[in-house]
Amino acid sequence: MNVIRFSDLCANGSVKGQRVFIRADLNVPQDDAGRITEDTRIRASVPAIEMALKAGAAVMVTSHLGRPTEGEFKPEDSLAPVAQRLGELLGREVPLVANWVDGVQVAPGQVVLLENCRVNKGEKKNDPALARKLGALCDIFVHDAFGTSHRAEGTTYGIAQYAPIACAGPLLAAEIDAITQALANPKRPLAAIVAGSKVSTKLTILKSLASKVDQLIVGGGIANTFMLAAGLPIGKSLAEPDLISEAQAVIELMKARGAEVPIPTDVVTAKTFAADAIATVKNAHEVAEDDMILDIGPQTAAKLAAQLKQAGTIVWNGPVGVFEFAAFENGTRTIAQAIAESSAFSIAGGGDTLAAIAKYGIEKQVGYISTGGGAFLEVLEGKTLPAFEILAKRAAG
Ligand code: 3PG
Repeated sequence: MNVIRFSDLCANGSVKGQRVFIRADLNVPQDDAGRITEDTRIRASVPAIEMALKAGAAVMVTSHLGRPTEGEFKPEDSLAPVAQRLGELLGREVPLVANWVDGVQVAPGQVVLLENCRVNKGEKKNDPALARKLGALCDIFVHDAFGTSHRAEGTTYGIAQYAPIACAGPLLAAEIDAITQALANPKRPLAAIVAGSKVSTKLTILKSLASKVDQLIVGGGIANTFMLAAGLPIGKSLAEPDLISEAQAVIELMKARGAEVPIPTDVVTAKTFAADAIATVKNAHEVAEDDMILDIGPQTAAKLAAQLKQAGTIVWNGPVGVFEFAAFENGTRTIAQAIAESSAFSIAGGGDTLAAIAKYGIEKQVGYISTGGGAFLEVLEGKTLPAFEILAKRAAG
C-alpha cells in the first residue's frame, strides 16, 4: 500500500507538537438506554491515539455514530458514551467537544473527542467548503477508520484532500494488509461464508467470490433465494424471487470451475418470527407454505462444519440463521465452532459476525477479525476504497 504511515511519522519525530486529527470508526452498537453493547471498534482505535499522544501531539479524534440528520443534533447522536469508554481504555479523561468545525482548543499531550462528525452540514456529500475547514484544523490527518473507508465523506476523504499531511493510521494499515494478503495467495481450499438477509446487498460480493473460492456457503435470506434457484420450496421465508436468475448464475459459475455452492439439505422452520416460536427440523424438500426458515438444519450444519475443518482459508461474513434466538442458533454456533477448530487461516468481518464471534467466545481462534462491515466486503470484492485512493494520491505528492 503506497501511502504515508502514521507510525513512520511518529518514529521520525515529525509528530511532536503537531495538531493531529484522527478519524476513527467508533460507530458501536448501543442498547435502548444508550449503553454500548460491543466495543471492539473503540478498543481497536486506541493504538493510534496512544501512538499520537506518545509522540507528543495535540490529539483530536472524531467518528460518526449512526446515520443522523445533518444540522439536527439529537441526544441519541452523541458520542458521550464513547468518550466515557475511550477514557476508561486510555486511563484518562476524554473531553467531548461540540461545534468544533471552526476551531478546536487542544494542547500537545492532550486528547479530545469531537462530537459526531455526521451531524456537520456537508459531511456526507463531502462539501468542499467543509472539507477545507476540516483540513485547516490540523497539521496531520490520520485516517484510522477502516470501517468507514468505503465512504468518501468530509472526515474520511475531504479532510485528506486539504490537510497539510494525510496518512494511514495503524488500524487502517493493518486491516488492508491482513485482508489483501489473506486473499492474494490463499491456502486452499478457500471457503467463504456469505450470509445475511438479502442477495441484493451482497450480489457483487457473491459474484466476485464465485470466481475465486472453492466453496461458497450462503446463509440467511440469501440461502433461501439460492434454495428457490435450486427448485426447493421455502414457504413464506425471507427471499428475493426476482434474483433467482442471479443466484442460478452464481451456482453455474461455481459449477463450471469445479467448485460448489452447498444448498441446505435440511432446515429449521417456525410458523412465526419469535424467540419462543416452536422450532421444527425439516428436510429441505418438505418446507410447508406457511413455514419460515430461520436456520440451517443439523445435517447441513454438520456437512458444512466438516468442509470448514478441511479448508485452508475461511472468509466469514454473516450468521447463517437467527442466532439471537436460542432455538435457531445451532447452525451459526456449529459454523463458529468449526471455524475455531479448523487449522485454516480465518478472517471475519461485519457487525452480526462480530456479535456471533463474541457470543461463542471464539475471538482467539479466528485468524483476523476485521472492524469493517461494508468496507470489509468491498475489499473482498477487490475494489479500491476511497480512503486508500486519496491517501495514495497525497503520498504521491
Ligand atoms: C459500519 O458500521 O459499517 C461503518 O461504521 C459505516 O457506517 P455507514 O454504513 O453508516 O457508513
